[in-house]
Amino acid sequence: MQYQRAAGVDVLVCRFIDEATGGRGTEAFSLVQTLRLCVALGNIRRYIQQRARIPAPQACSSIITHRDTPMRQFAWLLLLLTSMSAFAQKFDGLAPTPPMGWNSWNTFAGNINEQLIKGVAEVLVSSGMQKAGYTCIVIDDCWEAMARDTMGNLIADPAKFPGGMKALGDYLHAKGFKFGIHNCAGTQTCAGFPGGRGHEFQDARTYASWGVDYLKYDWCNHGTANAEETYKTMRDALHAAGRPVIFSLCEWGNNQPWLWAAKVGHLWRTTGDIRDCFDCQGVYDMGWKVILDKQVGLEKYAGPDHWNDPDMLEVGNKGLSLGESRAHFSLWCILAAPLMAGNDVRNMSKEIRDILTNSEVIAIDQDPLGKQGYRFIENPGKEIWVKELSNGGWAVCVLNGGDNRMEMHLNWNSLPFLKGTFRVRDIWNNKDLGTTKEEFVGQIPSHNAILMRLAPAQ
Ligand code: GLA
Repeated sequence: MQYQRAAGVDVLVCRFIDEATGGRGTEAFSLVQTLRLCVALGNIRRYIQQRARIPAPQACSSIITHRDTPMRQFAWLLLLLTSMSAFAQKFDGLAPTPPMGWNSWNTFAGNINEQLIKGVAEVLVSSGMQKAGYTCIVIDDCWEAMARDTMGNLIADPAKFPGGMKALGDYLHAKGFKFGIHNCAGTQTCAGFPGGRGHEFQDARTYASWGVDYLKYDWCNHGTANAEETYKTMRDALHAAGRPVIFSLCEWGNNQPWLWAAKVGHLWRTTGDIRDCFDCQGVYDMGWKVILDKQVGLEKYAGPDHWNDPDMLEVGNKGLSLGESRAHFSLWCILAAPLMAGNDVRNMSKEIRDILTNSEVIAIDQDPLGKQGYRFIENPGKEIWVKELSNGGWAVCVLNGGDNRMEMHLNWNSLPFLKGTFRVRDIWNNKDLGTTKEEFVGQIPSHNAILMRLAPAQ
């Protein structure tokens, strides 16, 4: 068997014997495709095996190369470039507003199974969360068996998911949810289960066959792989598999995905992992206030179908007070963040449910203008975050990050972007406060926030 790197090669042709039918075939690969995949995978053979839909290990009996006449080379190039434009793209229009749903990781980590996911789905419906917009259920790390099957296919852990992923997907779809799943761009997931590297096209077809609608793709065990090329490979694989999938890049902001990921996925993580605390700092994880500070300046990169992702919600998890949960939720909505609840919704208090389902707060996150908010001012312990909304409106969030209760005086003239007079509504207190002609005065407890919506006065 002969394997050849792409450099200097015009076209690669793979001759293969289909093990299932015994038939012989050939498949040609463009130089551009091949180069891209070589960079991403470092190994053309695996790519060919996947693209040709033929099983490892006897995929290609030989790989031959052609050197064509300059005229034919030019014709090939044209053909390849036109086929590339159909090949290299994400599924557009799947996330016009930030995706919303529930993810298993923050509360359950590896303790997941079919019953849990079904129970969560039921409660998302009965609690009103689905109706409020949480429509995607994402099964994070640890759903897999420790090894692929003999054909290299991913399989679910049969003890945790005895019915298999297709059946679970059908169940979620029947309840009106999107079906989300996690894997990793490296050789193994962060928890040590099989990763996608070298199996991208094969895995994308598996996900399509299970009815997956959302893929969170992690970045553990990536070795020396190039992030942009690696995520593009998975994007192309999803596209080739033909089922529209929201692609969530979980690369932790290591390679500044905001600069390149808008064409690759629908959302990208901007930091390491969130933890259920206000401002604690671990090696890989941190409190939501630490993450919030890291969002400053990223607002210009987000918009419809391409969102910064400051990580999932910790609202309702035990390390946060009620006020901290409320402030966290307010600010994630100002950020136009994807809203992935991460709590045990089966055991949540009414107060937490009221936070997560507040339609006026969610409307700020989901505003169709799709502008991420930004920090307007920062004083010790006090910050004002603002978000431009459709129809000339604004959202204004005042955060008391200090340790003591604060009395807040806000003269609206100090916000120069407000042109004209606005009606002011205090959302959490469900109160109309008059207009921006009057000064706002309010008390904000420590680690809490006030969230106001401003609408142009007639
Ligand atoms: C990484 C991600 C987390 C979660 C875990 C699973 O740490 O950032 O969100 O998916 O992997 O192992």
